[in-house]
Amino acid sequence: MCGIIGYIGNNNALPMLIDGLKRLEYRGYDSSGIAILRDGEIHLQKKVGKVSELEKAAPLKDYTGSIGIGHTRWATHGEPSDVNAHPHMSNDGTIAMIHNGIIENYHTIKTKLEKLGYKFKSATDTEALVHLIQEMKKVSGDLETAVRLALRQVDGTYGIAVVSSQEPDKIIVARKGSPLIIGVGENEHYVASDAAAIIPYTRQVVYMEDGEIAVLTKNTFETKTIDNVEKIKQIHEVTFDIEEIEKGGYDHFMLKEIMEQPETLRNAMRGRVLLNEGNAKLSGLNDVTLLLENAQRIIITACGTSWHAGLVGEYMLEQYAKVSVEVEYASEFRYRNPIIKPTDVLFLISQSGETADTLAALREAKKKGASVLGICNVVGSTIARESQGGVYIHAGPEIGVASTKAFSSQLVVLSLVTLLIAHQRESVSHDVLMTMCKELLDLPSKVEKILKDTSQIEKIAEEFKTSNNFLYLGRGYNFPVALEGALKLKEISYIHAEGYPAAEMKHGPIALIDENMPVVVIATKDSTYEKIISNIQEVKARKGKVIAIANDGDDHIDTLADYVIKVPHTLDMLSPILNVIPLQLLSYFIAVKRGCNVDQPRNLAKSVTVE
Ligand code: G6P
Repeated sequence: MCGIIGYIGNNNALPMLIDGLKRLEYRGYDSSGIAILRDGEIHLQKKVGKVSELEKAAPLKDYTGSIGIGHTRWATHGEPSDVNAHPHMSNDGTIAMIHNGIIENYHTIKTKLEKLGYKFKSATDTEALVHLIQEMKKVSGDLETAVRLALRQVDGTYGIAVVSSQEPDKIIVARKGSPLIIGVGENEHYVASDAAAIIPYTRQVVYMEDGEIAVLTKNTFETKTIDNVEKIKQIHEVTFDIEEIEKGGYDHFMLKEIMEQPETLRNAMRGRVLLNEGNAKLSGLNDVTLLLENAQRIIITACGTSWHAGLVGEYMLEQYAKVSVEVEYASEFRYRNPIIKPTDVLFLISQSGETADTLAALREAKKKGASVLGICNVVGSTIARESQGGVYIHAGPEIGVASTKAFSSQLVVLSLVTLLIAHQRESVSHDVLMTMCKELLDLPSKVEKILKDTSQIEKIAEEFKTSNNFLYLGRGYNFPVALEGALKLKEISYIHAEGYPAAEMKHGPIALIDENMPVVVIATKDSTYEKIISNIQEVKARKGKVIAIANDGDDHIDTLADYVIKVPHTLDMLSPILNVIPLQLLSYFIAVKRGCNVDQPRNLAKSVTVE
């Protein structure tokens, strides 16, 4: 996720900015940049890659100056490159800006500004805002008002810091939906996207709220609302240490990432759900609309958790878009000489966009003439670059090796792809599509509800932390969730676990069931509910211990299962997004109680770039 740092005071800004950027490295980034004000000019340097590259390119002797801003970028619009890195400059070269978040209506703003003669250098959404500020300055005359006027025209989220060579004694900062804090020092001020960047310099901070703008000078800071109403802010003392901040106050990145899901799901959907039309807007698929409409078959290929997301995608696409779908492990696909026709469309799902087997499958399919589309998290990753089109999931960097938030966002994106193709093909009624949109938009608040109180799941984890085996059962849309639940447990707690389609239990795994076998059953109310209840009874008849995931209000299941974790109801196709969350938490708590290294489990890698 992008990081912001800024300094105004009496010292050289550069060493502090570089140090601050390094402290933000843990958030994940692909490029960085700084802008320093000196002698009425902005000195800019931006580099793709590590902050150490930027450090080499910006020696202190050339970049002295006591006002500056710095940024680590995690690409969302436009691949990682020197040009797309922040800060971005206005066309007249007088304004530099760094930005976290997404300007949703940047395209509209850009089109207007281009008509006025503005030239765009980068593929970013941010650049539209910096040019808009230059344009507003013609009206307002001063930077602060220009920033306010520009922000009032922006839809989306932002944390920004702006400097101008024409007003070289201030930094303007503003926030909406992207965290920003002001650090208060002696005759100096800082701005940062999180306290980790500045606590070696000051622990006195002001937390900015959404819709606020502040003007920082060496000795003062003034806070207002975007509508120009003055705000008095309190200064707080930061008491926690750096490691705590990096993990957002959680003990592990995995837990932080599980907890982030309401927000990451919102980000995956932002600007993409067209409720009234019952459609999805996925600009990365604009160039392949006809291909999708005419596809005879969709092949989904991926590895690990992403492959599980693909399995859910198969159910969604076949049910609603009425297109035939095959899902295959990328490692198998590449070696089995698959039959590919020009009317086949291949979707590759990969959080990292770098998994060797998935990439090899992409190249194999391309060679055979299929159209290849990526569903990736990391912008500008190899799979994203080599695909003909695709959709980013916008989950932000995932640091815990066991994938959590990327999975739920992959499912959201697969729902959006389903919506788009179903709308194109008119394969289901408008009402069905509208319901899908509505239920999608309701998901984040339902996830919030599940995450509100995790104490029951923690208690269940305590009960089963010494088990040696686990069985996970699900049917239909939730069969892949059973696989994913079992994989999460194996990955981080080293307990042997297997996921099965519930009906298959009687063809083998039932032999394993006795009073020592915990069986996790996903039993939310969908079209297979009655069947899965019978499966629960089969387990109970053999004294197995049942942990059920069921819907709020389902009292019947309380009488059958030993433990019941309740989740809100949603459409069958979206239920995996809710049902997987208790399973993520269950494996997390079991792993913690077993003393395992949750974020970096043994033998596993976050991105497997070898065969
Ligand atoms: C590794 C990771 C898994 C991930 C899989 C696929 O095994 O540990 O969490 O699901 O790779 O990774 P990808 O980046 O392609 O989704």
